[in-house]
Amino acid sequence: MKYLTLIIASLVLTINIYAQKNETLASTPPMGWNSWNNFECDRVNENVIREIADAMVSSGMKEAGYKYINIDDCWQIGRDSDGYIIVDSDKFPHGIKYLADYIHSRGLKFGIYSDAGTHTCAGRPGSKGYEEIDAQTYAEWGVDYLKYDWCNTDGQETVESYTLMRDALYKAGRPIVFSICEWGITEPWLWAGDVGHLWRTTYDITDRWDGTRWGNQLGWTEILEKQVGLEVYAGPGRWNDPDMLEVGNDGLTINESRAHFSMWCILAAPLICGNDLRNMPAEIKEILCNPELIAINQDELGKQGFKIYDEGNFEIWQKPLKNGDIALSFLNLENRDKSFNINWGKIRIKGLTGNYSVKNLWGNIMMGSTKDELSINIPQRDVLMLRLIKQD
Ligand code: GLA
Repeated sequence: MKYLTLIIASLVLTINIYAQKNETLASTPPMGWNSWNNFECDRVNENVIREIADAMVSSGMKEAGYKYINIDDCWQIGRDSDGYIIVDSDKFPHGIKYLADYIHSRGLKFGIYSDAGTHTCAGRPGSKGYEEIDAQTYAEWGVDYLKYDWCNTDGQETVESYTLMRDALYKAGRPIVFSICEWGITEPWLWAGDVGHLWRTTYDITDRWDGTRWGNQLGWTEILEKQVGLEVYAGPGRWNDPDMLEVGNDGLTINESRAHFSMWCILAAPLICGNDLRNMPAEIKEILCNPELIAINQDELGKQGFKIYDEGNFEIWQKPLKNGDIALSFLNLENRDKSFNINWGKIRIKGLTGNYSVKNLWGNIMMGSTKDELSINIPQRDVLMLRLIKQD
């Protein structure tokens, strides 16, 4: 009997040791860059990744808080007879560890991509059946972040498949941010908080203001509307991921990029850039590096913002902040300018008590206090971002 108890106790202990997520990671939404939105499969390679890492440092983005450089699909080509993943040597001639070392030498962190099924979405080898070998390989290479996709998973169950990789990562012993990418199909906000650090809530984003492309790629305002109600599931170490940024990519104007970035900040979304950092116009750099906006995204309270007002083509969103301040965004979805009179009592801001001074975060301008009404004008397809700073 004594032995049986001992065996059961050691079994439970073993399961508990491995069945865990690295809890201390991503206490604020991860910030970085990923290759997919701009370089997709064909144009990603070692030079691009090295140059992007250099640009992240020289552009000031690292200083602004961005740290992950993540390779998405198409770095892998096969498996050897022992099951180890083989790197595509045409694209990455010096292997992945070499790149990870380079990125670390620049003071940044390194991320990679795989898939829970047999193949990735671009048809490269997936991790199914090789979870532990892959997790160990990533740990040996110095990977800090894994995005784990859901293509080619016929007959697989999401919670089980993602838990398997979570445990493999934990066992491999290196702290690795785990980014779940099952596109929201099994409502990951209900189960993924104990499995990963962030989870995609929708199908892929594309560099459009609205509408869809190729059937299921969505413009960013379509994705925004799908975040309504999900705010209750997010918090430090567990984030809804409305997909990577399209700021600075061809299909968005500067105003549209500014609005997109602002809304991702209000949502406490991961800020994973998807543009070519090597050729960034000054206006795009200013958007991505705005310290006031980043402070809202990275606020330690870790609250995801929510919609408080909707006129159809004009919306107001609120995000509570750590010291009692409140971030507000006024989003103009129309193709013409919008004028609006803010009557602070009427727009139903949650938790608004006492007096606040009002700061416009694009332009850094003080705009009086909540004692007075405020008339605002927002250009077409743009946003006004305010921080209400608690006075008493
Ligand atoms: C899926 C993901 C994308 C990207 C591609 C790569 O579509 O949702 O973000 O990773 O696969 O093939």
